Amino acid sequence: MSDKADAAKRLAAARALELVRDGMRIGLGTGSTAAHFVALLGAQVGQGLRVIAVPTSERTREQALALSIPLSTLDETPELDLTIDGADEFDPALRLIKGGGAALLREKIVAAASARMIVVTDRSKQVDTLGRFPLPVEVDRFGLESTRRHVARLAADAGCSGTVAPRRAPDGHFLVTDGGHAILDCSFGAIPDPEKLARGLNAIPGVVEHGLFIGLAKAIIVADEQGVEVIGDIA
Ligand code: 5RP
Repeated sequence: MSDKADAAKRLAAARALELVRDGMRIGLGTGSTAAHFVALLGAQVGQGLRVIAVPTSERTREQALALSIPLSTLDETPELDLTIDGADEFDPALRLIKGGGAALLREKIVAAASARMIVVTDRSKQVDTLGRFPLPVEVDRFGLESTRRHVARLAADAGCSGTVAPRRAPDGHFLVTDGGHAILDCSFGAIPDPEKLARGLNAIPGVVEHGLFIGLAKAIIVADEQGVEVIGDIA
């Protein structure tokens, strides 16, 4: 990642920090942009800000623990005020692709439990049509090849073409998520009808969740060298 992109991610995270109020229940996203937010939040907690946070991955949980951010679970704290998370892509309708960091299942559960999900990102994630970033689909490891073929057929029906392939970890084995599942990366280039694809994926046995986040983000905080732009309703 370039220094400029990282600086933009930090800028977006800093703007998101302004939304945090004392006493809030906060969902903590996953990825390098969310990590900036967690770091900034940790510094505020060190200065006396009181929040309780639910992390969306083991990685984020470890970061938050190291910063002494008080943590909870959705079982203890089932409703959250605000979730701040990154995205791999967003379009003008605030639809997202997420899951580049393999945390999409917990990210979606936490976002759905939040009164507000606000996305923090750099400008490179902005697209007119979703799909340039390979869509991650989290699947049970049982019947992986069968589910992979089902996903590929469904995608073709939804107007998408391209490869559907299991993600591999650096050691060459299939990557395993925090939830113990595999990820299929769907390299479609363009997703002409994200709602149709999402509905179809939801109906496939073996698909645990997919990285299309539709109707979840209230606003996107997007930063670049020119500064910060807020798209959507941040209030
Ligand atoms: C993790 C995600 C991340 O939010 C997404 O990959 C963006 O990451 P980054 O902020 O590092 O660009 O969905 O599953």
